[in-house]
Amino acid sequence: MESKIKRIGVLTSGGDAPGMNAAIRSVVRTALSKYGMEVKGILRGYSGLINEEIIDMDYRSVCEIIQRGGTILYTARCQEMMTEEGQQRAAEVCRKNGIEGLVVIGGDGSFRCAQKLSALGINTIGVPGTIDLDIACTEYTIGFDTAINTAMECIDKIRDTSTSHSRVSIVEVMGRKAGFIALYTGIAGGAEDILVNERYDGNEQAIIDHIKRRQQTGSKHHIIINAEGIGDSVEMAKRIQEATGIGTRATILGHIQRGGTPTCKDRVYASMMGSVAVDLLAFGQTNRVVAYKNGTYTDFDIDEALSMKKDINEYMFQTATDLTR
Ligand code: F6P
Repeated sequence: MESKIKRIGVLTSGGDAPGMNAAIRSVVRTALSKYGMEVKGILRGYSGLINEEIIDMDYRSVCEIIQRGGTILYTARCQEMMTEEGQQRAAEVCRKNGIEGLVVIGGDGSFRCAQKLSALGINTIGVPGTIDLDIACTEYTIGFDTAINTAMECIDKIRDTSTSHSRVSIVEVMGRKAGFIALYTGIAGGAEDILVNERYDGNEQAIIDHIKRRQQTGSKHHIIINAEGIGDSVEMAKRIQEATGIGTRATILGHIQRGGTPTCKDRVYASMMGSVAVDLLAFGQTNRVVAYKNGTYTDFDIDEALSMKKDINEYMFQTATDLTR
């Protein structure tokens, strides 16, 4: 098919997420086979763009990557790209290398930089890639499904130990600003308390009372899922142990949630979103974010997308709470 532009670049930016490789593969292959474009891979996110770390991508360069976690293009959080000089330099590098369009796979911070590049004349399209699910315009972000399945498996294992020792276990999952991972894994892991940034009121006494109540009725374990943004889980464990007299341990799952083989869902959504991004560039679009909404793949203006707000679903949160009582 005819494309309005001939050469595009692709980069991954911010925290890595399982499925980013599937998105890269889709961008490269859609651009080559559907539109006959040339594709450049930009290493280490915006940092690599500013430093001109650019490689040629062909059909074979994305072989054997759909099943791999991480990102073959590497990633970075780039402070320089937040500055006007950094943005000017990035646009200049694009122009010098004939890169007319850029696919940015990452989160809101990465899209903010894409917005700047678009204003400087480089056509940019964002693809939502973050395990946190915290991009408001889309119901799905690449990496979320793998991350919650990884965390759920860990919670199942921790529950075994918690029961064997009749202990309280706090499991801290990722999500500095968003509680989606905690909410989903809390429900799926059958947790007794789920603390999410968006709703937690800091009432630790309620948790302590809950633990004591359950202990009196013969319960052998108590799992608390903390979203990362809640605070220090290790300190919380100490306080709970002190107040209840029950052995309490905290486990911080950390970056284990960001790695590993992407699930089928992540591979498929990433493949679809990568393809939509290239279609948009081929049609001459810029300053757009690919999204999944109401059962369909769509796209939004970046400015509009960044102004949207996302909260956890109230009915889901209430259900999660009802199931823990
Ligand atoms: O944005 C994804 C995320 O994994 C957050 O959940 C977490 O707070 C953050 O990245 C950690 O970032 P870093 O890997 O830079 O420590």
